[in-house]
Amino acid sequence: MAPQLDAERWERLELKQQAVETLRGNDRGGYTVPTGTGLYPAQWNWDSCFAALDFAQFDEPRAVTEIETLFGGQWPDGMVPHILFHGDDSSYFPNASVWQAGPAWRSSGITQPLVAATVVRQLFDCASDPAIRARLTALVPKLAAWHRWCYAARDPHDTGLVSIIHPWESGMDNSPLWDDALNAVEPGPPVAHLRKDTGFAAADHRPTAPEYDRYINLVIRFRDNGYRADRLYDIAPFRVADIGFNAILQRANQDLRSLLAATGDIASAAEVAAMEEKTGAAIARCWHEEDRFFYGVDTRTGKIIRKPGISGLLPLFADAEVAARHPSLVERLESWLARVAYGVPSFEPERPEFEPQRYWRGPVWLIVNWMLINGLRRNGCPDLAARIRCDSLALVERMGFAEYFNPLTGEPLGGSGFSWTAAIYLHFLAGRE
Ligand code: DGY
Repeated sequence: MAPQLDAERWERLELKQQAVETLRGNDRGGYTVPTGTGLYPAQWNWDSCFAALDFAQFDEPRAVTEIETLFGGQWPDGMVPHILFHGDDSSYFPNASVWQAGPAWRSSGITQPLVAATVVRQLFDCASDPAIRARLTALVPKLAAWHRWCYAARDPHDTGLVSIIHPWESGMDNSPLWDDALNAVEPGPPVAHLRKDTGFAAADHRPTAPEYDRYINLVIRFRDNGYRADRLYDIAPFRVADIGFNAILQRANQDLRSLLAATGDIASAAEVAAMEEKTGAAIARCWHEEDRFFYGVDTRTGKIIRKPGISGLLPLFADAEVAARHPSLVERLESWLARVAYGVPSFEPERPEFEPQRYWRGPVWLIVNWMLINGLRRNGCPDLAARIRCDSLALVERMGFAEYFNPLTGEPLGGSGFSWTAAIYLHFLAGRE
């Protein structure tokens, strides 16, 4: 028995080293690409934040640099773009020359889930070096500006729920949650021949051609409107208040408020507390009593998006009491886990829209597992959190640092040598979740 345990421990040590090497290998000097394969040759907003989370374990200054570089691309109105193009982006479509966005045309013109405050708070709470704390403190007003932008630009009617105007803003690009709203968008000219992603990843792991035609038509629409935040909300043909995006924002509000208080900006902390209060109340209203699940809403049509996606579980990440109020939410998660070999699938298994290989239509994503584990622990569900942690470690140990995984077979999918998978693996090994 003992030699086997040693072998396992040895294997884990080797993998830990490989995870560090994966992050180092994807480091382009000041920012990290999601994968070194060419699939994503730029800095992606939430990928970068998750990379920073674990750079902190072996190189704290480098972790802070990652976030500083990201905020170096912040727009004057406070928006932090979902992609920053720093170098050769010719292996990606749509690259900087298509977006033509940002002060120097070096970014996309939309945003991504606001996880940065949550990551900065983790870095801040762990940092003992005053120089690191000073650098993190300098980021706090920038984080606050991004949150303010988000409410002003995406919740102009002050409902407490912010809207995304492109599926890419959710980070969960082709989730079945967007199907109806996206189908209502004009496809625009076909772009299949311009796509580069399918040269790096199998086409059946990626979004479809009709989805891409619409993704790009939305980009063109926003570009034609000069990416003006005061216009896009009204003219966007796709507009959805996603429960997952809002839950991540709500958690980030809590972390931002704590950072503001710790750094002495009491007035801004009170302002963020008000954001938190209205978003907390709005998320609570998204509970569907009949289906016993959280749903977002299409804010163009007013229709509830009545589909069980992983977004609907993310209030666990935002609210430490949601499991006590709605135990059936946790039971639902357990029922998903009972139907797969590895949790957590990104869409409810056995539904007609569930596709275990295709991007956000079913596969497991370790960053989502991290959010759920963190939320389950705060909600007093340590056993379920441990089960998901165990699945996550097993996936990496058997299949490597893939972008995402098939929940039925564990098959590695999408890009390989993936930064955020390596980062979350390291995070789990350190027991920091
Ligand atoms: C892609 O290109 O697949 C990205 O997810 C868009 O952000």
